[in-house]
Amino acid sequence: MNISYNEGNRVFKLDTEHTSYCIGIVDEDNFIGHIYYGRKLTEDNLVYLMRTAEAPFVPSQNNRDRTSFLDTFPMEYTGNGLGDYREGTLEVRTMGGHSGVSLSYVSHRIYDGKEALEGLPATFGGDKECMTLELTCEDKFLGLQVLLSYSIFADSDAIARSVKIVNRADEAIYLTKVLSACMDMDNDDYEMITLHGSWARERAIQTRPVMKGKQSVSSIRGESSHQEHPFMAWKKNTTTEESGDIYAMNFVYSGNFMAQIEENQFGGMRAMMGINPYHFCWKLEPGESFQAPEVICVYSADGIGGMTRCFHDLYRKHLIRGEYKDKKRPILINNWEATYFDFNTEKLLGIAKQASELGIEMLVMDDGWFGRRNDDNSSLGDWQVNESKLSGGLKHLVDEVNKLGMKFGIWFEPEMISPDSDLYRAHPDWAIAIPGRTGSLARNQYVLDLTRKEVRDYVYEMVASVLRSANIEYVKWDMNRQLSDLGSYGLPADRQGEIYHRQVLAVYELQDRMTKEFPHLLLENCSGGGARFDAGMLYYSPQIWCSDDADAVERLSIQAGTAMIYPLSTMGAHVSDCPNHTVGRVTPFETRGYVALAGTFGYELDVTKIPEADRNMIPQQVAMYHKYNDLVREGDYYRIAHYADNHFYDCYEVVAKDKSEALVTYIQVLNRPNFHSRRIHIPGLDPEKTYVIANAQEWPEIKQTEYKGDTLHYAGLNIPPLWGDFKGRLLHLTAK
Ligand code: GLA
Repeated sequence: MNISYNEGNRVFKLDTEHTSYCIGIVDEDNFIGHIYYGRKLTEDNLVYLMRTAEAPFVPSQNNRDRTSFLDTFPMEYTGNGLGDYREGTLEVRTMGGHSGVSLSYVSHRIYDGKEALEGLPATFGGDKECMTLELTCEDKFLGLQVLLSYSIFADSDAIARSVKIVNRADEAIYLTKVLSACMDMDNDDYEMITLHGSWARERAIQTRPVMKGKQSVSSIRGESSHQEHPFMAWKKNTTTEESGDIYAMNFVYSGNFMAQIEENQFGGMRAMMGINPYHFCWKLEPGESFQAPEVICVYSADGIGGMTRCFHDLYRKHLIRGEYKDKKRPILINNWEATYFDFNTEKLLGIAKQASELGIEMLVMDDGWFGRRNDDNSSLGDWQVNESKLSGGLKHLVDEVNKLGMKFGIWFEPEMISPDSDLYRAHPDWAIAIPGRTGSLARNQYVLDLTRKEVRDYVYEMVASVLRSANIEYVKWDMNRQLSDLGSYGLPADRQGEIYHRQVLAVYELQDRMTKEFPHLLLENCSGGGARFDAGMLYYSPQIWCSDDADAVERLSIQAGTAMIYPLSTMGAHVSDCPNHTVGRVTPFETRGYVALAGTFGYELDVTKIPEADRNMIPQQVAMYHKYNDLVREGDYYRIAHYADNHFYDCYEVVAKDKSEALVTYIQVLNRPNFHSRRIHIPGLDPEKTYVIANAQEWPEIKQTEYKGDTLHYAGLNIPPLWGDFKGRLLHLTAK
């Protein structure tokens, strides 16, 4: 890792182990241009690549003799309104009502380490692990300073970018758009990969060509959303899973976002990512600053898989924190699909007792334990234990669960308020609402106005006092409605455009407080399943509930899309009941276990009621989890075949970092008549090593049990057809 500045040609070069990123300062106006991002280069003499050619009919700042190139120049971070007609990254409105920003380089700072972003989640690393380039640029006319930060890592090829805006003028200014990263390059037959979905089918992978005009994904729902994801990659159309160029951006943020690629008239393209400018207007008083969240940029020459593994390693080492960062998580059983709202102490203890005998390690009590909540129509905000359900109180229940040798976890939805709650009756103005307009309800609830400190403090105290009252070792922090009807009684008219972002900052502040006061707590975020599965939340919780759909087949696609960016250790995944509560599909208990093994692993069913044969399988599944979880959590993940593409089978692999073992999961979704074995190629192994099928007894059809690593990769292995649909098997390979 190194960051250098060549004063002679005014080029900055950021080198990671395999990549270089080059930035140049050009022209008398000191524009900051993007020169190169890709495979590592040995030299920085790259100014010749900088295009300063004139575009026809384009205005320039002073109608000068020099060429006017703003509309084509590859900007590192853009202004707007002064001659660059492509979509820009920064927009303002002055007190006089004007826009127009142009940024010029002023100075820079290169330092060891990486500074934290105030109030925001961000990747981190010590002085020996990271280096940062901070470019200061400004618009002299506006008195606006813009600090562009680029951090690189000794053990990663990722680059973390962020932007801070400082108002150096003597009057306030409105920021109406502040994106966090921009990357201009030529469209080299790129295809864009994005993730799309809905409730219960989050993050399906979509690929489309990058074409003239704009193609984007976004959210204006106040959260990352079920529908689109704060991630995009663009790859050459020849790039495969294992080789070829790919670039990606992922947002370390949990609110509204936009991610866009625009191809211009000359075949250049601009990729950008940041907070969605929809309903965003931030008033910056003189001397104040605005910190925009971080974007992680990745380039890999090793295909889609190379990009994936770069994100996984970065997030495992430099984003996820806390006690469970590198630790095996307790196998939990959650009562949501087991009982929904219909439970009491006795029922929960019945489940816990049976579960503990089978080796399950934690009981999680989901929604319905507080206020008068017997369905989803009331009580959010009233975080007092409902003693008519939990006779003897919460502590009694927790103590009894602990006596069984199990940990105890609990569900909250702290950001919400039900109209039918004591809290709403006392503070109707605490809900986000447009004064005078009838508010929209979703799941019969409003969103609490967390932009107000008194509301944040109240909610925190309510939640924390429950956590203080008993030995609670896990929290599922849920968020079950999107934002709408934006209005805060706590903010003046000219700050109403700050609500979306302030709300996200408030969630971060609350989770920060919680993880500081309860450092041993295992926090799992959730939002109607996986609507807030993003890198921002991973800074506070090492795992996130991936989807409300725990059907083994649906999960193959949901988990493949999620694991394109996020480590398997972060994906909340449970074995649930059948027929599946979302799709009605019946899959073998065994297969449900294999699919959940690719995530945190747990159960979401009434263990006292499932068929005995399934129940009897739980101790084996528990043993399987303990045997393989270190490998799954820490290893390198490879996609081998994707059911969403081939419609028949799914296959993925985790290889130990030292290549001593690998676990291949093979799920045959649909059987086909008269079909021979299927050849799969198993990458990531050491070509020199000989691997043994360690669980050969589970593969009686495969007679040969030893292979060289390169044979398994390039020649492959024939997987026999399995009898029936939804069948799965694990293949455990160990090096001799
Ligand atoms: C959301 C979650 C579920 C469950 C319910 C409870 O839908 O995703 O797992 O906790 O809320 O209301």
